[in-house]
Amino acid sequence: GATKVAMSNLEKDKFINYQRIEDNLAVVRQRLNRKLTLSEKVLYGHLDNPHDADIRRGASYLKLRPDRVACQDATAQMALLQFMSAGLPTVAVPTTVHCDHLIEAQIGGVKDLARANDINKEVYDFLATCTAKYGIGFWKPGSGIIHQIIIENYAFPGGLMIGTDSHTPNAGGLGMVAVGVGGADAVDVIANLPWELKCPKAIGVKLTGKISGWTTPKDVILKVAGILTVKGGTGAIIEYFGEGVESLSCTGMATICNMGAEIGATTSLFPYNKRMGGYLDATNRSEIRKYAEMFQHNLRTDEGAEYDQVIEINLSELEPHINGPYTPDLATPLSKFADAVKANNWPADLSVGLIGSCTNSSYEDMSRSASIAQEAADHGLKAKAGFTITPGSEQIRATIERDGQMEILEKAGGVVLANACGPCIGQWDRQDVPKGTKNSIITSYNRNFTGRNDANPATHAFVASPDLVTAMVFAGSMTFNPMTDSLTGADGKEFKFTDPSGKELPPRGYDAGENTYQAPPEDRASVNVIVDPKSDRLQLLNAFKPWDGKDPKNLPVLIKAVGKCTTDHISAGGPWLKYRGHLENISQNCLIGAINAANGEANNIQNLVTGEWGGVPKVAAEYRDSGKGWVVIGDENYGEGSSREHAALEPRFLGGTAVITRSFARIHETNLKKQGMLPLNFKNPADYEKVQPTDFVDLIGVETLAPESEVTLRLNHKDGSSEDIPLTHTFNEGQLEWFRHGSALNKMAKAASA
Ligand code: F3S
Repeated sequence: GATKVAMSNLEKDKFINYQRIEDNLAVVRQRLNRKLTLSEKVLYGHLDNPHDADIRRGASYLKLRPDRVACQDATAQMALLQFMSAGLPTVAVPTTVHCDHLIEAQIGGVKDLARANDINKEVYDFLATCTAKYGIGFWKPGSGIIHQIIIENYAFPGGLMIGTDSHTPNAGGLGMVAVGVGGADAVDVIANLPWELKCPKAIGVKLTGKISGWTTPKDVILKVAGILTVKGGTGAIIEYFGEGVESLSCTGMATICNMGAEIGATTSLFPYNKRMGGYLDATNRSEIRKYAEMFQHNLRTDEGAEYDQVIEINLSELEPHINGPYTPDLATPLSKFADAVKANNWPADLSVGLIGSCTNSSYEDMSRSASIAQEAADHGLKAKAGFTITPGSEQIRATIERDGQMEILEKAGGVVLANACGPCIGQWDRQDVPKGTKNSIITSYNRNFTGRNDANPATHAFVASPDLVTAMVFAGSMTFNPMTDSLTGADGKEFKFTDPSGKELPPRGYDAGENTYQAPPEDRASVNVIVDPKSDRLQLLNAFKPWDGKDPKNLPVLIKAVGKCTTDHISAGGPWLKYRGHLENISQNCLIGAINAANGEANNIQNLVTGEWGGVPKVAAEYRDSGKGWVVIGDENYGEGSSREHAALEPRFLGGTAVITRSFARIHETNLKKQGMLPLNFKNPADYEKVQPTDFVDLIGVETLAPESEVTLRLNHKDGSSEDIPLTHTFNEGQLEWFRHGSALNKMAKAASA
């Protein structure tokens, strides 16, 4: 009979489906008649329809069925609100929500967590009740960082997961294809729609030799980032292979995959090996280990499969690297770093070293850092620079507390912060350096963009292994090289650090610590989702109205936007992110960055009915409230940037009907379709010039909309003249159903109740 192995210890009734991969691949292999890489096997093994799927790397789009979904607290809010508006009883695949992004580091773990619980109460209450209602696992504030919890509990070899966070690829360290997505994709999957992904290319990284000494897995990705740059992985999955893999710990492989997000890769992935097996055993998942071993033939690349590009790195020769400042791909080998600091006039004093985060807070990382701190303590030294530690999870925190690493780090002057993102996402109430002051910090995190950690654009942030960060904290200097330089101990004698050492896995097993998990209750019907009607951060969504079946007529041009119009122009970030769970409030940023062709200004447009001038969101709402739809006219690549679903929800909420452009960024175009809007293109891009900002338009041919049909845009000019312009669209039959029903979610709800 079929083997039944639970996907996780927390979901005993959900099973790993390796048989589907096997069956799908049998079909795909026959069709493609070639060898497959590892990521191809896992992806094609999750195809919605292996018989008909168009499979061309870097060209076609795949419809996939992920095994699970993970959301962090900032991005989960709108995703869950949308899901609720569909009226479905439960999520379609196992899903978890993690409270990690909203906890500010101020004085230390316990107090910071209490403050966060207070400040974010309404968000946490909503997430706790909404997850309970719809069958989602909920990880409370203090439980840890999403990616650490995922690898400890949910990731499994050969699985496919999406997560609403960029560093979801962390699970590649356990052989899972895990991709960071926008909220709209998560909503699709939990509502049982297939997930669409551009068929990725495959970049192979061949690892030879053996890692040792001060070189860590982090240095592999720091090096790869230097080679490929922040753009080099775009549209590709990075697959590691070769004998060097055997010298990397499972959590070390996760570090490499995690930071693969910095080179734009779809995700990164390692083949199944013994180190993964050991980690599965250590996290009480030996059944999964055994199942994966039986399935190993599908958990590695076919001999002779072709990559689009191959890089080779000899681990025996790989030096530790330090990347930055301001960009994660500026890679400098440690031996050249002191010179680079001088040559570039980077601040040579180290202000703060920060270890931990989702990238580097494994037991191995923490014990290696502790070994360095212990050696410094043996010579009577304390941290010269500031020193913070963010454990990735409650389990890591409890285990290093029990095993003594935490005590060593604290005695050295380290401050242990809450198990959360903290300074990595700018949740850092930094007091040691006034804003605007030039200074250097070094972290074991993954990103170092300007201002990311402390909102000070003058801070030079560097990323490195936790080992280097810890060593440099004792030197207090950016020019210190622990491999060659000495420090002076309290006794006045010079000493050099020995090579760091640490256990890959805790010899006494992991200590789970406090229970911070809330399983969905048996009786979900009686759960009330808590949304305070007075909240300015959260608001329930109403389903959008279905299309009335008629050609839209007499629609004012809301704004004719000139030049670049990215998702940041359409839905600004920064302070607005606070309102991402409140569509009405966040809609006050709708298109406020777009430049109006009528006057060259941002957020100043004319209401064509009243003649008054005002902000874009205000005028849009006036049209809506008087029963009028409207259109936006856009230039090229409209909606490029992030996958932010708010950029499509807001115009729809404010009553928009269509967005007509020379061309769209594809993800935004799809997001508009999902929300029931009409993204349309000028058949002749030059026709963009014919539209006047004072036009009222008719859309003729919406009633007969079909794949590849044309729509006529009738421009009714202010002077009484009119002209007709041909428009095209990219709706397929399924997407047209979204439009007719008012949104993709409405369509799913209808299908579920039928
Ligand atoms: Fe959080 Fe930073 Fe990771 S924001 S999820 S710790 S990259």
